[in-house]
Amino acid sequence: MGQGTGNGTGNGTGNGTGNGTGKTDDRVALDDWYAVATASEVTRQARTTRLLGQEIEVTRSGDGAPLARERSRDGELGPPLPVRERYGCLWTTLGHPNRDVPTIEEAEETDRRFVPCGWVTLRTSGPRVVENFLDMAHFPFVHTDILGAEPHTEVPAYASEIRRDVDEVWATNCTFFQPRIAATESAGDFVRLTYRVPSPFTVMLYRVCPSAPSRLDAIALFIQPMEEELCRAQAVMYLVDTVSTHTALLAFEQTIFLQDRIIVENQRPLRLPLEPRGEIPTRADKSSVVYRRWLKEKGLRFGTVGLS
Ligand SMILES: [Fe+2]
Repeated sequence: MGQGTGNGTGNGTGNGTGNGTGKTDDRVALDDWYAVATASEVTRQARTTRLLGQEIEVTRSGDGAPLARERSRDGELGPPLPVRERYGCLWTTLGHPNRDVPTIEEAEETDRRFVPCGWVTLRTSGPRVVENFLDMAHFPFVHTDILGAEPHTEVPAYASEIRRDVDEVWATNCTFFQPRIAATESAGDFVRLTYRVPSPFTVMLYRVCPSAPSRLDAIALFIQPMEEELCRAQAVMYLVDTVSTHTALLAFEQTIFLQDRIIVENQRPLRLPLEPRGEIPTRADKSSVVYRRWLKEKGLRFGTVGLS
C-alpha cells in the first residue's frame, strides 16, 4: 500500500531501524500476539521481518503449514514459534500470551467484503499509531473534506472506559460530522462510531454502515512493532458494501492512512508518554487518556516512555 508497501519484509531490517538493539525484555510486549505478515505472502520462500527488536523468519512447510522462527544474529533459527492464521494475516508471539488473538466476530459473517489494505511502515512507536487511530479531533485538519471539515471541528462528548471483564478499552457514543463518511457516500452527515482496543497493538473502529444502517462496518488496524520507534500497520476491513470496487475501497483507505503517517511520524516524543503530565489532555482526548492509563497499568514499556 502506497510507498510503505513491502518495507519490513525481505531485507526490511535495514530500513530505518537505526536503533536495532535486539529483542526486548519487556514481558508485557513479549506475551502478546502480533500480525507479522499477510498470510497470502507467506510461502515456502522464507522471508524475514522484525518483531520487538528480534529478527524472525516466516515461511511455509511442504504441507502448507505456516512457520515462524527467531533468527539470531549469526543466522541460526530457533524453534517454531506459536502461529495463527487469522484475518488474512499470520500472527505469532515471542512469549506466552494468556489469551488468544483478538476475536473479530464480523469476520465470520459471510456476506461481508474482506478488504486487507496492505502494510504501511511508520517511523514511530506502535502506541502512537493506536492513539492517532482513536483520535477524532484531527479529522477536519488532517483528513480535510474526507473524514472532517470546518466548521465542524468539535468532538461531541463520548464515553471511554477500560472494560475489566474483557480487559479491553472501548469508546462508545462517538459522533462526528464527516463530509464523506465512506467510499459509497458523497454527502456529509454525523456518523456514529465505536472504538475498541482489544490488545495494546490492535485497534478497531465500528461504523454504522451507510448502506445497511442496522449493521456496523468493522475496520481493524493490526500493528507490528518492529523496533521501539518503528512499526508497520495493516488495516483490514469487514464491510457491508456491495457497491464499491476493491480499488476504490483501497484508494480511500490509503489516502487516509498516508495522511495519518505524516502526523504520527512528526509527533514527539515518538514513544507514547504514559505519565499524565507528559501532555495536556483535553476532553476530546478521553480515549487517549484511558488507553495510556491501561498501558500504564499493564506496565508496557516497549514503545512508551514514563515507566522505569
Ligand atoms: Fe487519521
